[in-house]
Amino acid sequence: MTHVLVPGSFDPPTLGHLDMIATAARLFDAVTVAVVVNPVKAGLFSVPDRLNLLRAVTAEYQGVAVDSFDGLLVDYCADHGVDAIVKGVRGAADAEYETTMAQMNRHLTGVATVFVPTAPEHAFVSSSLVKQVALLGGDVSDLVPAAVAEALATRRAERG
Ligand code: PNS
Repeated sequence: MTHVLVPGSFDPPTLGHLDMIATAARLFDAVTVAVVVNPVKAGLFSVPDRLNLLRAVTAEYQGVAVDSFDGLLVDYCADHGVDAIVKGVRGAADAEYETTMAQMNRHLTGVATVFVPTAPEHAFVSSSLVKQVALLGGDVSDLVPAAVAEALATRRAERG
């Protein structure tokens, strides 16, 4: 059985993330989507909120679990029987950045990273741009799952 980890901030999850998770679920037996906790960056959504959103939007996929952790990715992989890390790559800038992280992780424990090219229609989508557009009143309904669009609208309303 091949168990892969899809790590990220997921603040919030986008359709690009979802496409990558769906691809991982098709290719591998077990997929853990993990929110990596950044203790110095609060984020727009709390970690429990991100976990709830991820659970809701991945519910239809077989073999996908959701978790969170802080610390090193490679330690999580070693502790949870993860065979490989899966990362989405939107373009050349991601490829360069992700390659150095993949090499560092391989250096640390030998864990492999598999890159999944993002669907072309999601290549420009990032959580940070989605947040910016949504909080300024733009339409992100075709960039994020419906549950995330609702959560963003709620955050915007709360902020007035
Ligand atoms: O969604 P993001 O913010 O691009 O995800 C980046 C993330 C969280 C996957 C990356 O920062 C990470 O792996 N953090 C865990 C700490 C760690 O292992 N750092 C060394 C990476 S080489």
